[in-house]
Amino acid sequence: EGFLRFEHEPYHNFQDPATAQAQEKAFRSVREQYVGRTFPMIIAGREATGEKMHDVHNPADTREVVWRFPNATHAQREEAIAAAKAAFEDWRFSDPFQRATIFKRAAELLRARRFEFNAVMTLENGKNWSEADGEVAESVDHFEVFAREAMRWAQGKAVYPMPDEHVTTVYEPLGVVACINPWNFPSAIPLGMALGAIAAGNTVIWKPASDTPLSSYLMVELLFQAGLPRGVIQFVTGDHDVLGDDLVDHKDIRMIAFTGSKNIGCRIYERASKVHPGQRWLKRVIAEMGGKDPMVICADADLDEAAAGIVAAAFGYAGQKCSACSRVIAEDSVYDALLEKVVERAKRLKVGLPEDNADLGPVIHERAARNILRYIEGGKKTAKLVLGGDQPDMGDRRGGYVNPTIFSEVEPNDPLFQEEIFGPVLAFSRARDWRHAIELANDSEYGLTASFYSRDPHKITEARKLMHFGNLYINRKCTGALSGTHAFGGYGMSGTNAKVGGPDYLFWFMQTKTIAQRY
Ligand code: NAD
Ligand code: ALA
Repeated sequence: EGFLRFEHEPYHNFQDPATAQAQEKAFRSVREQYVGRTFPMIIAGREATGEKMHDVHNPADTREVVWRFPNATHAQREEAIAAAKAAFEDWRFSDPFQRATIFKRAAELLRARRFEFNAVMTLENGKNWSEADGEVAESVDHFEVFAREAMRWAQGKAVYPMPDEHVTTVYEPLGVVACINPWNFPSAIPLGMALGAIAAGNTVIWKPASDTPLSSYLMVELLFQAGLPRGVIQFVTGDHDVLGDDLVDHKDIRMIAFTGSKNIGCRIYERASKVHPGQRWLKRVIAEMGGKDPMVICADADLDEAAAGIVAAAFGYAGQKCSACSRVIAEDSVYDALLEKVVERAKRLKVGLPEDNADLGPVIHERAARNILRYIEGGKKTAKLVLGGDQPDMGDRRGGYVNPTIFSEVEPNDPLFQEEIFGPVLAFSRARDWRHAIELANDSEYGLTASFYSRDPHKITEARKLMHFGNLYINRKCTGALSGTHAFGGYGMSGTNAKVGGPDYLFWFMQTKTIAQRY
């Protein structure tokens, strides 16, 4: 236990004027240092540019191009896979304690640059200061956790002994792992998957989402600075026309670690099942996908606490978390009182610029906002709009700004209840009693996160048994999993349940060798 102990990285308190000033200073310096620059890919340890570039836009005003990255060519993808394959021959035999030392060093380096990493993230995916800070703190935690996990798995596992054989069970890496990432957690999610791969001795093709490559690029450079051999990660940017199906299908890819939407996750899962000529394994896939996460509020719950939790989980980062609360299911007897409290709190949220640390910024781009508004228009016909449902006036800024929106009386067959909207849209549904509330919560193809609020031990015991979710939170909000403690990953169509940050995560990136020796 002493071996595994560590303290989660504390969050910054931006109420403190000195801390707020440090963050403001970091914005100025990031704007000076990075805005307007073109960054490279990293292939075979060398910087690589592309024939074409893509612009990365500031979601706060999408007319602003913050930086540019290359679009990898087919030849560069092949080069990257070959380089990862070659680097595997050394890295697979690297000492897990060396891996851990590198991760510990990287944690130190990142601690010293948190404000800078926060600012970069805000400028490319529109997180406000606290949301960006939470994610960068999670990244520090990942380094600490994966350092420990690398050492722990290196010890192998005990088996039932035999009198005349010495039997060991050891874990070995798989090969080249393609890590395919979403834009909504551009630092912690790519890092979690890549560290899982590297801690186990694999090499990585790191493909960030094209909306958010700099948060990833800086993390990769930081790992190299911490001592990771440069061949261990190939950092390739661009779109899925080159880095999608062709990457997934490649015979030299041993494993795909994906986090993103259900549609793409299912596509990858299916394609990866095909064995291509020259391929000598069945590909392993982890695919962590979407959510339609409910918070169940029982009649005996503390309604003020529940309302605070709901508003934070539904509208933090404008609802663009796989873990975001998008459904509230409340017992009839407290439904109206709870709704009033939630609306009251949500009304106080200020929509504005993430760089000014507004409560709620824009969604990732205008296209995403249009999709969200389509759901809202549909909801106006099928449910009762009680808050928002429109866009704020942001002057001449262009961005996907959507006001916090709440619908009540949402029925289980409504798209508002069943489909992942990925925006600041919350559906309230009425349950006859707490058992019915659990049934409604489970009435979803997804099963990522959920909350259950009650003070009754019997109800809590039943909820623990019956609620079909990978991350179930009792009397707390359903966002904000901490690495090392709240192993993260869902049930059902939320994915393969690989549980990043948990005690079994590294197993996904390894194969098990039994060696039985007679003397
Ligand atoms: P997305 O599925 O659109 O894209 C994810 C990645 O897949 C991107 O890098 C994209 O370029 C790539 N991609 C696209 N087509 C591909 C193909 N044919 N083959 C291989 N890769 C391809 O998802 P997104 O919009 O970036 O992210 C939002 C989604 O991610 C939401 O559904 C959210 O719930 C989910 N998500 C899940 C978790 C989790 O842990 N379960 C965490 C964060 C986000
Ligand atoms: N890990 C993130 C959370 O728990 C998605 O909110």
